[in-house]
Amino acid sequence: MMKDRILVVDDDEATRKPVSILLEKKGYEAIVCAGADEALSKLPGGLISAILADIDMPGISGMDLLDRVNALDPDIPVILMTGASKIEHAMDAFGKGAFNFITKPFKSENLIKALEKAVRHRRLIEDGKNYRSMIEDTARSRTRELNAALLENRSLTGEITRRLITIAEFKDPESGAHIARMGLYAVELARVLGMPASFVREMEFAAPMHDIGKVAIPESVLLKPGRLTPEEHDVMKSHTLIGGRLLAGSKHAGIRMAGAIAVSHHERADGSGYPAGLKGGDIPIEGRIVFLCDCYDAIRSARPYKPPFSHGDAVRTMTDGSAGMVPERHFDRAVLDAFMKAAPAFEAIFEENRDG
Ligand SMILES: [Fe+2]
Ligand SMILES: [Fe+2]
Repeated sequence: MMKDRILVVDDDEATRKPVSILLEKKGYEAIVCAGADEALSKLPGGLISAILADIDMPGISGMDLLDRVNALDPDIPVILMTGASKIEHAMDAFGKGAFNFITKPFKSENLIKALEKAVRHRRLIEDGKNYRSMIEDTARSRTRELNAALLENRSLTGEITRRLITIAEFKDPESGAHIARMGLYAVELARVLGMPASFVREMEFAAPMHDIGKVAIPESVLLKPGRLTPEEHDVMKSHTLIGGRLLAGSKHAGIRMAGAIAVSHHERADGSGYPAGLKGGDIPIEGRIVFLCDCYDAIRSARPYKPPFSHGDAVRTMTDGSAGMVPERHFDRAVLDAFMKAAPAFEAIFEENRDG
C-alpha cells in the first residue's frame, strides 16, 4: 500500500527535522518544505494526504497558505501549528477552514493523532469521490447499453411491421411504396398539427398499417377489375373492422393507434364514411390524418378508372372541390389546413418514394 504523504511546512529547521523523523517512523512519507512557496509548488499532482504548516513564516504565512490550498483543493486537510501564546490564531484558522490546530511545542502523540484523523478524513473523501465516479461510470455504461437495446428494439419492431405489412401486400394491389409514403405523410401532418413527439413517432409506425385488414378480403373482391356490387363493396369495407380486430387489445400505444387508424381511416368529416359513419371530432385524429394522406396518394396514383394526377391537380382537387371531392365534407378542417402547409413536403415524399 502506498504511504500517505504529508507536506510539512515550517521555516524553522528545529521543527521540520524532528517532525519528519517522527512521521517516517509512523509510516508516513514526509515532504518537507521550508516555506509556503515551495509547498504550493508540490501540491499539484502531489497526491498529498494532509498538510502540517506553521503559521508564522516569512513571506506567505501559514494562514495564507491555508487560503491557497483551499482554493486549489479544499479536500486536503490542513493542520496549522503555532506558539502557545497565539491562541487567537486558532479561531482564525478554524474560521478559514483549517482541519485542526496544534500549539508548539507539541507532544508527539498529539501530533500523530491529529494527523491520523486528517488522513482518515482525506481517505473518506477520496473513497466517496471514487464511489461516486464508479456509480456514474456504471450509470453511463448502463444508459449506453439501454439506448443501444432501445434502438435495436425499435429497428426490430420496424422490420417486423414492414414484413407483416408485406404479407398483406401479397394480396393488396396497393404498392409497398404507398405503404412507406403513408408513414411519411402522416408524420408530416402530425408535426404541422403540433401533435406531441410521441404521437408523431407512433404515426410513422401506425399509419402504414391502415389497410392491414385487407389480408382477410377474398381476392375475388380485392382484385376484381370491374365495379364492385353493393354486396362486394360491403365485404371490401369490412377491411377496416378486420384491421381493428387484428390490432385490438395491445398494451402498446403505437399498436392501439394502428388499430384506431385501421378502423377509422375511411370515415369522413360529414359522417358519410364507413364503417361507423362517425362525424368530425368523433373520428380519431389519427384516422382523420390518415384518411387525407390516403386520398392524396390515391389521387396521385394511377387507378384502373383514372390516370395519375400531378401534385398541383391533386392539391386543387382536394381543396377546391373538383372531381367529386368536397373538401369540407370529406376532410377535417384543421387537417386540411395542415395539408395546405405541408403540401410541398407531400410532393417531395411522393417523388422520392415512387412505386418501383
Ligand atoms: Fe383502406
Ligand atoms: Fe392506403
